[in-house]
Amino acid sequence: MEAELQALVSQAEAGQDTVSTWPALAEFKATFVGPNGSLTAASKEIGKLPNEQKPVFGKKVNETKQRLEVVFDSIRERIENAELAAKLGPQVDPSLSVSENQQGTEHPLTQVREKIIGIFRKIGFTLVEGPELETEFFCFDALNTPASHPARDMQDTYFLPADFVLKGGGKRGSENFIMRPHTSAVQIRTMTKRKPPVRILSPGRCFRRDTVDATHSANFHQVEGLYVDENVTIRDLKALLDHFVKELFGSDAKTRFRPSFFPFTEPSFEMDVQTSNLRKLSGKWIEIMGCGMVDPNVFSHVGYDADQVSGYAFGMGVERIAMILHGIDDIRHFYQNDLRFLKQFQFA
Ligand code: PHE
Repeated sequence: MEAELQALVSQAEAGQDTVSTWPALAEFKATFVGPNGSLTAASKEIGKLPNEQKPVFGKKVNETKQRLEVVFDSIRERIENAELAAKLGPQVDPSLSVSENQQGTEHPLTQVREKIIGIFRKIGFTLVEGPELETEFFCFDALNTPASHPARDMQDTYFLPADFVLKGGGKRGSENFIMRPHTSAVQIRTMTKRKPPVRILSPGRCFRRDTVDATHSANFHQVEGLYVDENVTIRDLKALLDHFVKELFGSDAKTRFRPSFFPFTEPSFEMDVQTSNLRKLSGKWIEIMGCGMVDPNVFSHVGYDADQVSGYAFGMGVERIAMILHGIDDIRHFYQNDLRFLKQFQFA
């Protein structure tokens, strides 16, 4: 009887190599441990044995079962490995040489954003980020932008449907959710939470309903800055931005303020820069950002006392700065992920 059980194991071991699919494994197992299997049949013999032999024989049957399981497991492992290998495809030859330099690089917009941020960080600005899905209050009302202002038109700003609800709320009265058209909203959020002095930089993605062309994109990136303290003046703003352009464009870069209008600053300016090492643009005055002194009405929305504090704010488009710095003539290059373009910004 014991020899019979041993023969079963040997039979399984000898036959295992021919089993290479799941159905074949099931069939193979059934010939031993299925209802009509040989081990099942052998174990039924136990009833015919004298009582004192039953425990010994039962133990042998169990041992045999375990040894068969070992065989089944090894078949199972072999089938799984074969399946995995089939999924992974042909083996890779790690000794083959690579055809070109495949090293990745930071996107030019990331590089330029980091450069801008780095300059302001060194002189005490800290980074603050805010949501891209915003409300009219943070993007317009608190920024002294009246309901009739053209920037609030459906043609300029992306509005979410009036019945849109955001988990956690955040909407005041009948105002709408919008995709933020500038990161100035982050400045309001910060001022409502912190007391002056505040010296922050808010980089981030912005959205406007622009028709895409060489210089417009419905989705672009900004870096905006805000400084509020006692006795902040236009001279501080001018000195800051003079320093910024020299760091960014080189020590001969000059700035020029032109009067402009923003609802949230008074006075407001467009700032131009002129420098000698910008290829085609060398020597030309190029507009690079909007800026101005924070309008007292903005302070009243965030609970600051306009008699106690004053501040300046500025905002620039990262794409625009990157285009000027690198002589790029079409904003769409930034978003097409064409390696021939991106590889030109692999410096390190
Ligand atoms: N928020 C303005 C824009 O998006 C830029 C700006 C910021 C202008 C701060 C003045 C002061 O165009």
